[in-house]
Amino acid sequence: MPRQPTLTLTAAPADLRQAACLLASGESVAFPTETVYGLGADARSGPAVAKVYEAKGRPSFNPLIAHVPDIETAQSLVLWSHMADRLARAFWPGPLTLVLPLRDGHGIAPLVTAGLDTLAVRVPAHETAQALLRTFGGPLAAPSANPSGRISPTSAAHVLAGLNGRISAVIDDGVCEVGLESTIVGIFDDIPRLLRPGGLPAGPIEAALGQELLGHNESGTPNAPGQLLSHYAPDATLRLEATAPRPGEAYLGFGDMDCDLNLSRNGDLTEAAANLFDHLHRLDRTGLPIAVAPVPDHGLGVAINDRLRRAAAPRDPQAESSLRPEL
Ligand code: TXA
Ligand code: MG
Repeated sequence: MPRQPTLTLTAAPADLRQAACLLASGESVAFPTETVYGLGADARSGPAVAKVYEAKGRPSFNPLIAHVPDIETAQSLVLWSHMADRLARAFWPGPLTLVLPLRDGHGIAPLVTAGLDTLAVRVPAHETAQALLRTFGGPLAAPSANPSGRISPTSAAHVLAGLNGRISAVIDDGVCEVGLESTIVGIFDDIPRLLRPGGLPAGPIEAALGQELLGHNESGTPNAPGQLLSHYAPDATLRLEATAPRPGEAYLGFGDMDCDLNLSRNGDLTEAAANLFDHLHRLDRTGLPIAVAPVPDHGLGVAINDRLRRAAAPRDPQAESSLRPEL
């Protein structure tokens, strides 16, 4: 693992060629997507993918998303279906990940799927992510570029704050527009399931399918293996649904109110999603406990509240060391 400082690259073609060379030689490179920054590695190389798990401190049973430039490449990796086609044509490129059965001859390293016979695939919309995928010419396994269990990064500065010296390079191309990880939908036996709420609300997905998404399974077992409770954890404690701060708390607001940082003064959920992780990173640096104003639980608010609940969940010290939960 590199211990020298992480190289910062730009989105210029020469820098992307350098990033692609690093990836081809088995190194890990963080890159921007429209959701959050990803930590990319060649998805066909076990040793390269192992470096990603190692840099993040991620449990090896928690599988990664394979990023590809287009539908055709996705079709070469997974068994396609009518439903997958509908969703891919409606929402790719964009913040939607599909979990589908792997197809024969896929070439994906088993470490990516953590031994499952399904693969999570996504076609990112971000221009630089697209350019990197095309320059590299292969699928990139890329979890969010943060230490496992910590707040996801929406800027290169966030990536470096967590992983400097543990990864080879980061491509700095500004702030992620969506700011929340992709929505994950699994399609098994023609039944579409919402495995993780995210940057694409469930409403439009259900409209495109003409049917409802099934929720998490009833037993409470996570469908996306990373979906354990304590996650996105800042160092500070978080108090949710706080209509006012208590003395000594930093206050994260929503809507027109007095607060230290506001997710969206106009009460706009898209703006709130884009600000969420950055504001948590910033308030965390104050060292104060954080109180968070109520955020409406519809549209993108579902994913925002999901991330806030995980950030606020009590951390089991044993789980911290043995599991390092990661979504
Ligand atoms: O927006 C995103 O999805 C970002 C950017 C970088 O693309 N990536 C991301 O990756 O959030 P990560 O590794 O932090 O989250 C991937 C999630 C995990 O919860 C994992 O358990 C789930 O996807 N996942 C991956 N493969 C799966 C599979 N075969 N079946 C079910 N869940 C899977
Ligand atoms: Mg993550």
